[in-house]
Amino acid sequence: MPLIEWNSAFSVGIQKIDEQHKKFFSLINVLYDAIMQGKGEVVVGPVLKELQQYVIFHFKSEETWMELYRYPDMIKHKLEHDAGAKKVSKLVLEYERGQQTVDIELLKFLSDWLQNHILQVDRNYIPYFQGKV
Ligand SMILES: [Fe+2]
Ligand SMILES: [Fe+2]
Repeated sequence: MPLIEWNSAFSVGIQKIDEQHKKFFSLINVLYDAIMQGKGEVVVGPVLKELQQYVIFHFKSEETWMELYRYPDMIKHKLEHDAGAKKVSKLVLEYERGQQTVDIELLKFLSDWLQNHILQVDRNYIPYFQGKV
């Protein structure tokens, strides 16, 4: 059983962005499966790093489109991204220093953050991006 399942409720109606969001769901599930199977020690390090890089790539993509299509709430949205990216880089740093354990509780926190961001923040740009991105 995956921890987090993508369904049409998460769709922003833009294929390119939905695909990127699905990638996050899949990375979180890879971490979840590894921990459930007791393989966390081997898998968490590299996958966490991949997640961090994908966060940067995805936020940058959205911000580029927000700028290009003059999304009026861009500054607020960018602040949310910055806070999220900061959390992830702190997590990676602490994990690498052995100060942070990646467990199911932490994955649930990441998964909740992601779901809330898609449903409450990302959705708002839909009318500005549709037919353009
Ligand atoms: Fe976003
Ligand atoms: Fe997003």
